[in-house]
Amino acid sequence: MPLAIETHELTRYFNDFCAVGGIDLRVEQGTFYGFLGPNGAGKSTTIKMLTGLLATSGGTIKVLGRNMLDARESLDAKRHMGVVPEDLALFDNLTAREYLTFVGRIHLMPRETIRQRCDELLALLGLEGEEKKLTLEFSHGMKKKLALAAAILSNPDLLFLDEPFEGVDAVTSRVIRDLLAGFVARGSTVFLTSHVLEIVERLCTHVGIIVKGKLVEQASLATIHQTGSLEDRFLHHAGAQLETPHKLNWLEEAAS
Ligand SMILES: Nc1ncnc2c1ncn2[C@@H]1O[C@H](COP(=O)(O)OP(=O)(O)O)[C@@H](O)[C@H]1O
Ligand SMILES: [Mg+2]
Repeated sequence: MPLAIETHELTRYFNDFCAVGGIDLRVEQGTFYGFLGPNGAGKSTTIKMLTGLLATSGGTIKVLGRNMLDARESLDAKRHMGVVPEDLALFDNLTAREYLTFVGRIHLMPRETIRQRCDELLALLGLEGEEKKLTLEFSHGMKKKLALAAAILSNPDLLFLDEPFEGVDAVTSRVIRDLLAGFVARGSTVFLTSHVLEIVERLCTHVGIIVKGKLVEQASLATIHQTGSLEDRFLHHAGAQLETPHKLNWLEEAAS
């Protein structure tokens, strides 16, 4: 299977601090890849580099066969991918439909196609009753849904999602899960980050675990399950601090 994402020694420093320390990702096309790690592990930094939102400090990135460190090839890759970044990056003073139309026009989509897909996406994500509101007035969950709609509007081959289920209600979460499952079923690729083990376990076919900027595990979920649970693997790598239980003495005292 060809690779949708391939990195070699991908690295990012912030001054002296190494946020991503030389990771080799391999994501096959058609897989649902969960990039799992504790808070601060380097997930968002990695996804920003993969999508061209943040410069690298070292290493190489290929996305859909294009070299992301080459301006022309990176632009070509971006035509075939959708991104829901950490900060969502919407425009405050547009309505949902105006924003989606703007995104569609950037992708040079015909106006009629944009209109049809807008109707479908706004209805599917339960935003059709919110047509008069500016995104500035949206709740966090509504913003997340709009960002997702914008990411899939152009029918991309590869979708990058940074913590897509955070701050989203159960109904919306179900809609998003079904949508992503359908997206992968037709052969497209999803790369999502999450610090929530259950989300990755439930949705993904493949998993990469990042801890303190290092990729400590990368395998199919089926392979991981052969030797135990994902939770065991995750805690094995990320839960070292659990071996010495931390206690807050003052809290114990207050409780007794
Ligand atoms: N712009 C930045 N400047 C300095 N440090 C940063 C910056 N962005 C992220 N970091 C640091 O890099 C580490 C990884 O951050 P991030 O990739 O956001 O983690 P995650 O998404 O896994 O929670 C954290 O220690 C964070 O504080
Ligand atoms: Mg993050």
